Amino acid sequence: MATPDAQSFICRSGQLLERGRGVRFTVQHHGKITPAFVIRFEGKAHAYLNVCSHRSLELDWNEAEFFSAFGDDLLCATHGARYEPSSGACVGGPCRRAGLAKLAIIETQDGVYLDSMDDVHLAKR
Ligand code: FES
Repeated sequence: MATPDAQSFICRSGQLLERGRGVRFTVQHHGKITPAFVIRFEGKAHAYLNVCSHRSLELDWNEAEFFSAFGDDLLCATHGARYEPSSGACVGGPCRRAGLAKLAIIETQDGVYLDSMDDVHLAKR
């Protein structure tokens, strides 16, 4: 695990409420700018590429809203694929067992940071 630095800062920890709105950000993934998001579930922050495994569309219902009405799943707005919030695994709908791509993050007392990965880097804001 790398030491977080300002270059990998995604958001303040307080921005992520349990099963609430997420925070969108972008990464360079294999050299391509790709949308991503982070949410909080069962007290822990989880980040994924914002790319549905069904048709490669972004999941949000409204900007940065990813949870289903009961807060149990992440739900794709387009055709209703459902993903388990802590793993990104497909749990229903047209994702057909293909999950979301999870990103490694580090959460400190004050912030959430993208952990270093070979093929994923935070895109410039
Ligand atoms: S694009 Fe997400 S369910 Fe079809």
